[in-house]
Amino acid sequence: MLKSIKISLVFSTLIFSLNLFSQSKFTTLNSETESKITALLSEMTVEEKVGQTCQITLDVFLKRNANGAVIEPIEIDSKKWEEAISIYKVGSVLNVGSHTLSMDQWKMIMENVHEPYKSGKTNIPIIYGIDAIHGVNYTIGGTLFPQEIGLAATWNPRLASEFGHITAYETKASGIPWNFSPVLDVARQPLWSRYFETLGEDPYLAGEMGKAIICGYQGKDKMDNYHTAACLKHFVGYSTSQSGRDRTPAWIPEKYMQELFLAPFKSGIESGAMTVMVNSGDVNGVPGHFNYHLLTEVLKKEWGFNGFAVSDWEDFIMLETVHRVAENPLDAVVKGFNAGVDMSMVPSAPHYKSYCDLMKQAITEELISMERLDDAVRRIIRVKMAAGLFEKGMNENKNYPDFGSSKHKEKALCSALESITLLKNKNNTLPLSAESKVLVAGPTANNLVYLNGAWTHTWQGLDTTYNTAGCNTIYEAFKNEIGAENCSYSQGAELYLQEDYEACKLSNISDFKTKAQNSDVIVLCLGELPSTEKPGDIRSLDLPKAQIELAKIAYEYEKPVILVLVEARPRIIHEIVGDAAAIIQTYLPGDYGGDALVQLLYGKENFSGKLPYSYPKHNGVIEFYDHPRSVDRSKSNHFKAYDPEWNFGYGLSYTNFIYSDLQISQQKITTVDELTISVMVTNTGKMNGKEVVQLYISDKVASLVPAGVRLKGFEKIELAPNESKRVEFSIFAEDLKFADNSGNWITEPGKFEIAIKDLNVTFELN
Ligand code: BGC
Repeated sequence: MLKSIKISLVFSTLIFSLNLFSQSKFTTLNSETESKITALLSEMTVEEKVGQTCQITLDVFLKRNANGAVIEPIEIDSKKWEEAISIYKVGSVLNVGSHTLSMDQWKMIMENVHEPYKSGKTNIPIIYGIDAIHGVNYTIGGTLFPQEIGLAATWNPRLASEFGHITAYETKASGIPWNFSPVLDVARQPLWSRYFETLGEDPYLAGEMGKAIICGYQGKDKMDNYHTAACLKHFVGYSTSQSGRDRTPAWIPEKYMQELFLAPFKSGIESGAMTVMVNSGDVNGVPGHFNYHLLTEVLKKEWGFNGFAVSDWEDFIMLETVHRVAENPLDAVVKGFNAGVDMSMVPSAPHYKSYCDLMKQAITEELISMERLDDAVRRIIRVKMAAGLFEKGMNENKNYPDFGSSKHKEKALCSALESITLLKNKNNTLPLSAESKVLVAGPTANNLVYLNGAWTHTWQGLDTTYNTAGCNTIYEAFKNEIGAENCSYSQGAELYLQEDYEACKLSNISDFKTKAQNSDVIVLCLGELPSTEKPGDIRSLDLPKAQIELAKIAYEYEKPVILVLVEARPRIIHEIVGDAAAIIQTYLPGDYGGDALVQLLYGKENFSGKLPYSYPKHNGVIEFYDHPRSVDRSKSNHFKAYDPEWNFGYGLSYTNFIYSDLQISQQKITTVDELTISVMVTNTGKMNGKEVVQLYISDKVASLVPAGVRLKGFEKIELAPNESKRVEFSIFAEDLKFADNSGNWITEPGKFEIAIKDLNVTFELN
C-alpha cells in the first residue's frame, strides 16, 4: 500500500516563519525621522506635550440631551471638541460610543478628528484607536472572524495573518489607524471572562499566531493606507489572576513570568508592534501601571521597544482609588507616568482635564522630568509618523472596495472552518446524513450574538439590533442546508441577564420534547451569554445546570445527540460527555460560524481545528499541558492531576493521519548548531484533510524541575487520501533554554526528548 503513496515536498517551519513574519522595521530608529521629531519637540509648549499623552473617549465630545444621554444618531458637539483640542490639545481619541456605527458616521467622526491637523491648527495629528479584535466589529457591514481563541484553534499562522490584513484594511476603511489588538495574554485561568480574547494557554502558540496577526495588521515595511498600528495587550500577567475574576491580583514567580507571560510579548515586540497596552491588574502586589521594572527596564530598555505604552481604561485614576499605591490624583499621575506609561487612556470628561492640569503641575514641580515627558511624546510622534498620520488627507471610502466583500467573508468562513474542533465522534455519527430529520436546539442555536461574543457591535455584545444582515445562526444554516421541512428548532433553555451573566433556565420544555420525539438527530447548542471584563466574571466553570439538564432530557430519546459548544471559555461538561454521540467546540466562531459548522457536520468540509488549551474535566483541578512530571506521578487517574477532558492540541478529523520515520540530523548538538527534525505524515483515510503536526520537547534532567513537555514547533499541512508529506522543523539551543527563579535564562547541557504524536527521539546538547 505504501507504494501507492504520493510523497510531496518537505515543509519547513523555519523557512515559513522567516519569510512570512520577519521582523518589521517600524520601530527601528531612523535618524531622519528622529531629527524631524526633535524639531517638532523643540517648538512644542508643555501644554502641547502633555496633550499628546492624553487620550479621550469619543463620548467626551458627542452631543447629549437634557438627561445627559448621547443623542442618536450621534453628532459632534463642536464646543466640547474645540475645548479638547484648543485648550487641552489632546493627542488621541478612542472607542465607539455605545454601539457600532455606519461607514458614513465614521467618516464624519474622522473628518472632525483630522480637521485640526489638516487645517494647520495643530502640528501633530491625532491618533484614533479602537478594539477591532475579531474583525471590524464597530462598523456596520464589517467582516467578523472567530474571536482570538478560535483563531488560535486553527493553528494556522497564514490564516491569522490574513485575518490581520483584512481587519486592518476594513479598520482603515473606517478611517481608523490604530487597533487595540492582539491580546497576547497567555490563558492560564479558564474562569477569566476574557479567556476568549487570548490565543490560548501556550506561549509558543500565542507568540507564533500573535506575530502573524501583527504582520497582518501592520504590513511589512512602510505603513500604507491598508494597514493599522497594532497594540499588544495587556502587558503583562493580566490573564492569570488567582480568583479568576477580572482585574484581580495575580502572583507570578519570575520563572513563569519569563517563560509563560513575557515570551509572547517579546516576540510581538520583535515583530515590530508599535504600541503596547498596560495590564489593569496587579502582579505580585505591583499594579501594571506602576511597574517601572517591566515597563521601563524590560520592555523599553532590555527589549529596545521604541513605540509607546498606553494605559488601560482609567488606570492612572485606579492607582489611587483601587490599587492604593498613590496618595492622591497627582501622585497617581506621577507614579504611572514615571513607571513608563506614555499615554493615559484617561479617558472621560472632566477627568481628562484634571489629568492635563496634574501633568502640568507635575512638570512644574519637577515630579516628572522634562526628559521623561519628551521621551513619551517622542515615542507617540514616532508611532504617528510610522502610521502615516502626518500625510495629510483622509482615506476615501471609495479606496476600499473590498470592505465587507465576499472575498473577505470567504476568509472569515475559512477561519471558522479551520477553527471548529471535533472532540468526540462515537461510531462515526458524523458526518450527518442529509436524509435525517434534525432538531436544532439549545440556548445558543438561533442568535448571532452567541457566535460573536463580546466586543461585537457593543461592548458586551448582547444587543441584537446590530447583528450583521444576511449572516446565519446555526439553525438558519441548517435550514439552508437541508431545507426547513427537515429541521425544527426549540430553544430548550434560555440564557438571560440577571444580576450577572450566569443565569439560565429551561424554557418551553414540552415543545423541545415533542420536536425531539419527531427527529432523528438532536443538535444541542450549549454555551454562554456574551460578556467580557467585569460583567463576565463567573463563580464556577460548570456549565449552568439547566443546560446539563437539557442534555439529559435529550438523551432520554435514545437518538444521537450532538453537543455543539458555543463558549468563550471551556465550561465543565463532564456529566454529559459520556452519552453524547458527538461533541464539537466552536469557540466564538463569528458571523460565519453557523455556516462553517453545518458544512463540517455534513462532511462538506473536514475538521482540522485543535484545542489551544487543555479542556478541564473537573472544576477543582485546573492543570496545563506543560505541567511537570510530579503532576502525573502515577499512571492511575486518581493520582493524576493533569486529567483533562481533552488535551491541549487535541482535535479529530474525518480522515486518519499516520506518523512515521521520525528523523533527526544529529544525536548531539552544541549551542551553535541547528538540529533538523523531520517526520513523515500520511493521510490513510478516505477524505482530504488538514493536520497540525506538533513538535514537543522535554528536558530529561534539569537543575530546576522542568516542564513535562513544551510545544516548540507546529505546521499545518493538507493531505489528499494516500498522500504523504515530510514535515521538517529546526531547533536551536535557544529553544532549549529555561528561566531560573530570578528570571535569568539558562541553557543546560544534557538529554532532551522530542515527541511528535506518538513518535519520539532523544538527543544531547553539549
Ligand atoms: C480593556 C482594553 C480595551 C480598552 C479600550 C479596556 O477596558 O481592558 O482591552 O482595549 O478598554 O476599549
